[in-house]
Amino acid sequence: MRTQVAIIGGGPAGLLLGQLLHRCGIDAVVIERKTRDHVLSRIRAGVLETGFVRLMEEAGVADRLHERGLVHHGTRIAAHGRSFRVDFSDLTGMPVVVYGQTEVTRDLYDAREAAGLATEFRAEGVAIHGADTGNPHVTFSRDGTEFRVDCDFVAGCDGFHGISRQTIPLSARTEYEKTYPFGWLGILSRTPPVDHELIYAASDRGFALCSMRNANLSRYYIQCALSDHPEDWSDAAFWDELKRRLPEDVADRMVTGPSIEKSIAPLRSLVTEPMQWGRLFLCGDAAHIVPPTGAKGLNLAASDVHYLHRGLARFYETGDAEGIDRYSEQALLQVWKAERFSWWFSGLLHRYPDMAPFDLKMQQAEIAFLRDNRAQQRAFAENYVGLPY
Ligand code: FAD
Ligand code: DHB
Repeated sequence: MRTQVAIIGGGPAGLLLGQLLHRCGIDAVVIERKTRDHVLSRIRAGVLETGFVRLMEEAGVADRLHERGLVHHGTRIAAHGRSFRVDFSDLTGMPVVVYGQTEVTRDLYDAREAAGLATEFRAEGVAIHGADTGNPHVTFSRDGTEFRVDCDFVAGCDGFHGISRQTIPLSARTEYEKTYPFGWLGILSRTPPVDHELIYAASDRGFALCSMRNANLSRYYIQCALSDHPEDWSDAAFWDELKRRLPEDVADRMVTGPSIEKSIAPLRSLVTEPMQWGRLFLCGDAAHIVPPTGAKGLNLAASDVHYLHRGLARFYETGDAEGIDRYSEQALLQVWKAERFSWWFSGLLHRYPDMAPFDLKMQQAEIAFLRDNRAQQRAFAENYVGLPY
């Protein structure tokens, strides 16, 4: 097989890149380890920035998103018995759109299939060869048959556990990492959301988040210990703990029901520098992870895709390699800003095991400053709706 760009990973980053390249007349093969159904079964991000929505429009796959996405003009922050709203549209002129990662991925797979584009599912033992030469290639096997894809470039979009990042020798990359001493226990339930907007809550029992996917599908999270397992948490225990972390009026109107998904995600920050090695480009979670507070993970994958597809389009159109040569530098500027925001927002709302009374006072003062200061609210809103790229 021969293609211009071999894309490893058929998650949102790989699929969006593939679709945008296709719109520029660039040929790409997506090589995915799992099946389409498996990828679609992963419940992950839910909040899209305007930049993400624009890329979906550019890729020609935004119809369903516009039809079904929930436009949110603000969010509520509840802390220690008081709550306030941050109005994104008033402060920045931009809202966010609540539309699940599952739906984004489904739209992209549908478009890929409708255009007859190649996706290699169930690819085992994927390996990248010669990324530091002018002629890279990718190998994999399926059901005992070996495959080889020759290409000009490789896009490593295979997420945090993928092989692309590991392909770059340790001597050629630096990893900056922070692990947080807690995780998020999340559930999905077929119940109406407790509010029309998201509620981020800090309490002395820990963090909680009320989110949603649609008018009858709610997504809730609570901070939990890293040693917890989803099966330790009955639905009743989850709802009880969630309510205890929310303002009383919110807890009182919460509609509960059986969970249809329950999982724990540890919180972690990780950035790999640089995001390029020869003809291999890392994109999305393959290059960086943020803690979920603020919903930046998926949006950051989109900002990488923006820079990479522009660079590749310019290269194939004019032969000018400046865009691809500067990919890592440009993408990392956005990455570090989003890392900072996710780290700050996580610190604002979570209970850390080693918090001294002074640290708690600082956290409370920081929340009060955000509540009472318009400049701080504007900085928060600008980061939440997404810094421009
Ligand atoms: P992924 O979505 O991870 O896609 C990578 C793809 O590559 C996968 O389909 C995988 O099967 C495939 N792959 C992996 N290894 C190989 C291989 N060797 N060969 C071929 N294919 C391979 N973000 C938010 O904003 N809000 C959230 O609430 C949120 N919750 C999350 C919960 C969890 C459990 C996780 C893991 C992430 C969460 N995120 C969240 C982050 C967000 O989902 C990611 O940032 C986003 O999925 C990144 O997209 P991606 O395409 O870069 O990576
Ligand atoms: C969701 C996840 C987040 O991390 C966040 O900050 C907001 C919403 C969600 O899954 O809906």
